[in-house]
Amino acid sequence: MIVGAGAIGLACAWRAARRGLQVRVVERGAPGSGATWASGGMIAPVGEASWGEEPIVELNLASAERWPGFAAELERASGRPVGYRRCGALHVALDRDEVAELRRRHELQLRLGLKADWVGPVECRRLEPGLAPAAGSGVHAAHEAQADPRALIAALEEALEREGAEVVAGAEVTDALIEGGRLCGARTADGREHRAGAVVLATGCWSGVADWLPPEARPPVRPVKGEIITLRGPEERPVCERIVVTEWVYLVPRGDGRLVVGATAEERGFDVTVTAGGVHHLLREAYRALPEIAELELAEAIAGLRPASPDNAPLIGPGAIEGLVVATGHWRHGILLAPATADAVAALLAGEEPPRSLRPFDPTRFGSKSRRGDGPA
Ligand code: GLY
Repeated sequence: MIVGAGAIGLACAWRAARRGLQVRVVERGAPGSGATWASGGMIAPVGEASWGEEPIVELNLASAERWPGFAAELERASGRPVGYRRCGALHVALDRDEVAELRRRHELQLRLGLKADWVGPVECRRLEPGLAPAAGSGVHAAHEAQADPRALIAALEEALEREGAEVVAGAEVTDALIEGGRLCGARTADGREHRAGAVVLATGCWSGVADWLPPEARPPVRPVKGEIITLRGPEERPVCERIVVTEWVYLVPRGDGRLVVGATAEERGFDVTVTAGGVHHLLREAYRALPEIAELELAEAIAGLRPASPDNAPLIGPGAIEGLVVATGHWRHGILLAPATADAVAALLAGEEPPRSLRPFDPTRFGSKSRRGDGPA
């Protein structure tokens, strides 16, 4: 049983179903309607690398490597596109302070062995002719990619249906079924009991308030709001070919005329109000980088809630109660980390031992009660 039908929950479900396990996904709202719906879909381990987060960078890289195979297999299995494109990313600095910050970031990328080239203004403009004249220097990360998160959800739903797995939408979990100290399923608001060999918690930023679980099994995950807008222009004349990133915003060209501009980062609890200030910030900073965006239609403005953990690293593995597997806390990297998370969770559900590479992401590392028993299932 998987609780949560975002990109992570559905990907875990699909990989588990592929292994021959019997899978049911239970989702409070509609599949993909949480953070996934508001995701930029960047598969960008270079651009997202941050100081003191080496284990996350490693996991990000490993998952980015899995993406082409994951996308191809999912497209075959579902008959639907997921929008995976290795379009590359260009990080640009638009004033002297931003050049200094970009240098610092580039030094970190090189120290971590990431593939990223420093490029001057002429090369920046050769790569992206629509850049503002202020774009002085840049970092070209040619291997960065993207997927379309909404297309991903549709493909996963279809693939799950073809595998005979069940996705139950509009079903809120209200109680855990615990027998002899072991989690063996959950009850939903309609009174239905879902018995399971293992329960996967994949409810994103709501994992920390999963009050149907015993307190020691609730991961310390909190919401961080991100406002994000979609612009739309002619498909044949995109304002950029690559993901363009500044210190303040990223612009993701979808390849069909849409340009996703994200994102704010705000600690406002579960509030998802789209504010004038948020949209103004995104438009102002996007315009500074690519003035032609002024010609595009403002197609959508929404806010999503990133699931953040205390150390910004995801929680993937056996939880603090036997029978519970946790797959949450993916912070800014949910789409990027979907393949690696799904493969790890499916392996655990199939009875394999958690690999050493998952140790930094042990869901019990924040001091919740230590796990009992040997495995999740
Ligand atoms: N991955 C980008 C963001 O969270 O805004």
